[in-house]
Amino acid sequence: MNRKDITMDMNSIPGRSDRVKIHLIAAARPNFMKIAPLYHALKNERWADVYIVHTGQHYDINMSDAFFRDLGLPEPDFHLGVGSGTHAEQTGKVMIAYEKILMETSPDMVIVVGDVNSTLACSIATTKISYPSIRNSKFKSKNLNHRPLLAHLEAGLRSFDRSMPEEINRIVTDALSDILWTPSPDADLNLKKEGVPEEKIVRVGNIMIDSLEMLREIIEKQKMARSLGLDPGRYAVVTLHRPSNVDTPRSLGAICEGLEELSGYIQIVFPVHPRTMKNLVSFGLLEKLEENNRIILMEPVNYVRFMSLIFDCRFVLTDSGGIQEETTYLGIPCLTLRPNTERPVTVEQGTNRLTTAEKMVNDARSVLSTDGAHFRVPDLWDGHTASRIVKNIKELALNL
Ligand code: UD1
Repeated sequence: MNRKDITMDMNSIPGRSDRVKIHLIAAARPNFMKIAPLYHALKNERWADVYIVHTGQHYDINMSDAFFRDLGLPEPDFHLGVGSGTHAEQTGKVMIAYEKILMETSPDMVIVVGDVNSTLACSIATTKISYPSIRNSKFKSKNLNHRPLLAHLEAGLRSFDRSMPEEINRIVTDALSDILWTPSPDADLNLKKEGVPEEKIVRVGNIMIDSLEMLREIIEKQKMARSLGLDPGRYAVVTLHRPSNVDTPRSLGAICEGLEELSGYIQIVFPVHPRTMKNLVSFGLLEKLEENNRIILMEPVNYVRFMSLIFDCRFVLTDSGGIQEETTYLGIPCLTLRPNTERPVTVEQGTNRLTTAEKMVNDARSVLSTDGAHFRVPDLWDGHTASRIVKNIKELALNL
């Protein structure tokens, strides 16, 4: 069929080959919450053919399958099964495996999310692929007949700390992307300063809030705190996994000491990331935490159970990116154990405060002595980010 004959009005059902073939890349725990709302929104669009590619960077049931189930995601269409490795190994394995999928399936668009190694790997594979035969791009942008359009969701975030692997992943992914979907004005500004043309930057809001709103009712019914024997509002949640915090005995030891002291003021629930668990064991720090009956250690929990814990907690102590955003949205105080954040809006408008192992107990005591948190939910963090993305894809495409 000649492309010019195709009128993809929303009431007609285009043939499969006329639809926009979209790959959604998911790799690690924080990615699953970001692709889920978008998957569900695109699935409802007759012009879109959406495929989930799971790179397998996170593979434990608690880190991966449980999230797919909670978020109503189907089995991935492609599973690359790359597993763990050094940064180069992980990135290289994803590039090699995904390049094959790209060659076999020639999608029109690849959507990468967040800042993990697989985000970087799939961005490089996508922008360097060159299909042997010229196809007609489904998008208005020029020069896309040989490769798919690359879109980055959660673009423009910068910690300005290049010792973080995620910062390198963000910078390279943004430099390669054709479309940059941002969550907040600071992200737009960062991209403009790096010379990204304005027409590539589209502020869509925060997709994590879509997931939270999608599952709010189920989360509220979960009552995870009660099932652990905890009173709502009388415990803190701790999560840690950043290499800078957990990869040396010195940094992890100082944080464990802080947790011991903190447990004198409030009970602590600590779902332990696999990287952190390995290191607690090998640095000989686990036993002391286990002996403390004011600290509940557990394996990582699924999304609904975890968010239920967050909904009812007094405050969070974390080094995660996503939790800084979720707590700002919910108005729950958050202490972030990092010298910087790529999400400054959570500090400027939200409930977030940066802290250190040395300062964390004092900062926590100041949270405990204050009633409520002053905050403003950033614009477009409203549960409608996926629909704004769908609208943008339609604007970018031909004939939709
Ligand atoms: C990765 C991301 C980080 C993200 C985090 C969320 C990179 C560079 N880092 O960090 O941005 O915030 O995920 O969790 O992409 N492991 C398991 N089971 C799993 C997954 C990992 O045991 O399901 C172990 C691995 O063997 C490895 C360690 O945990 O030793 C770290 O995993 P890795 O994927 O390298 O990085 P994360 O620390 O999870």
